[in-house]
Amino acid sequence: MALKISVIGTGYLGATHAACMAELGFEVIGLDIDQAKIDSLALGELPFHEPGLPELLRKHVASGRLRFTTNYEDVTAWADIHFIGVGTPQRADGHGADMRYVDAAVRELAQRIRGKALIVGKSTVPVGTARRLAALIESEAHPEAEISLAWNPEFLREGFAVADTMTPDRLVIGTQDDDSEAILREVYASALATNTPLIVTDFETAELVKVAANAFLATKISFINAFAEVTETVGGDITTLADAIGHDVRIGRKFLNAGVGFGGGCLPKDIRALQARVSELGLTHTMGFLAEVDEINLRRRERVVRLAKAMLSGELVGQKIAVLGVTFKPDSDDVRDSPALEIAVELFNAGAEVFVFDPKGNKNAAGRFPRLHYVDNLEAAAQNADLILLLTEWAEFKALTPEDLTPLVTHRRMIDGRNVLAKQDWKTAGWEITSMGQHYAPLDGDI
Ligand code: UGA
Repeated sequence: MALKISVIGTGYLGATHAACMAELGFEVIGLDIDQAKIDSLALGELPFHEPGLPELLRKHVASGRLRFTTNYEDVTAWADIHFIGVGTPQRADGHGADMRYVDAAVRELAQRIRGKALIVGKSTVPVGTARRLAALIESEAHPEAEISLAWNPEFLREGFAVADTMTPDRLVIGTQDDDSEAILREVYASALATNTPLIVTDFETAELVKVAANAFLATKISFINAFAEVTETVGGDITTLADAIGHDVRIGRKFLNAGVGFGGGCLPKDIRALQARVSELGLTHTMGFLAEVDEINLRRRERVVRLAKAMLSGELVGQKIAVLGVTFKPDSDDVRDSPALEIAVELFNAGAEVFVFDPKGNKNAAGRFPRLHYVDNLEAAAQNADLILLLTEWAEFKALTPEDLTPLVTHRRMIDGRNVLAKQDWKTAGWEITSMGQHYAPLDGDI
């Protein structure tokens, strides 16, 4: 009989997983405690931007293979496998992960399940969580229930969430029993049929694989951004440096793009939660380098603000600054911990008139910082600008040429925060253009 799947939590991770499971042929029910989100999903409307996902959602809501609810009874009375995809945000009172949503989801399931079921954690959690949850399940479960737990971390990237879920580069399963592995092999049969690497391991390793991957990616970005600080001081070209070391296959060129640094709902909070967890385990120095990774990353944002001020001869008050891109990366409407948004806000706080245009992110950014001017096209942002900041590398910004902007602006000044423009073309057209990793004399001695 076909497996019946539930997905608890319908944010980026859960909504994507639910729709992709339906696409793979399973019957799926998605649960969230947010009624508005569920109402929207049930109508086939995705409450966030993710390429390719609206089509899958509409297709399977229409086919009836994908349903949504806010009621745990609907889920436990029907499904055999329950994937947990709820958030583990940074705690308000520190760097650790806030586990209350994961804990609540597991408790709600454990108390209601009767008979055999498998709970599969997908959320990013501090190491030791699965073992703790197994004990929680044991203590909360009904005597007639037989509940197993597995940990199956998710590696999807926003913007590529559907492809990353349908054709993952690896599958990791942390488990304590063979049955759970067999069931998950059935769930992921299509990926396994194409020889996707499958790593079956214990709970701790599965949990650590996820945070280790994100910590490595964050470190790679801060590594190149640390060298950007050096070239900003001594001269040199950071992109050429990245290209040259990236040819060494042991290093690789990916995630070596210097710029305004990493943001989003994952990398920043995951490196903080990892440090907090490892310190809690008594290893107070072990992940200390991640504090540096974080600081290098946050210094990038300050650098852009200082650069903007220097290019405007030290005075931000009353200057019109156009901010192109406000999301943490292109092809997303996510502004969580977005370097671009933080820079825009800092410039505003320093007295600049900040005009923001992002192809998808204006709404979410305005929800957080309504006092910036949000405009719905590039021209309106650039009109009469004293300075343009390219902060998120949307394709349409990467394709910009001086001819597009010269007729609009008051002053031809550009900061390329993502190192994506052909600088020489802009200089030839009379623009003052600076980028990340570039020496800028007025800032000498000021990293
Ligand atoms: C990240 C991981 O890449 C996923 O594998 C993981 O599943 C996900 O977190 C998660 O934990 O859920 P995501 O947050 O979607 O995915 O974003 P990335 O593509 O990793 O980009 C993160 C940030 O790094 C962005 O702000 C991006 O602009 C920045 N970045 C990336 C750079 O500054 N330079 C680079 O070379 C690459």
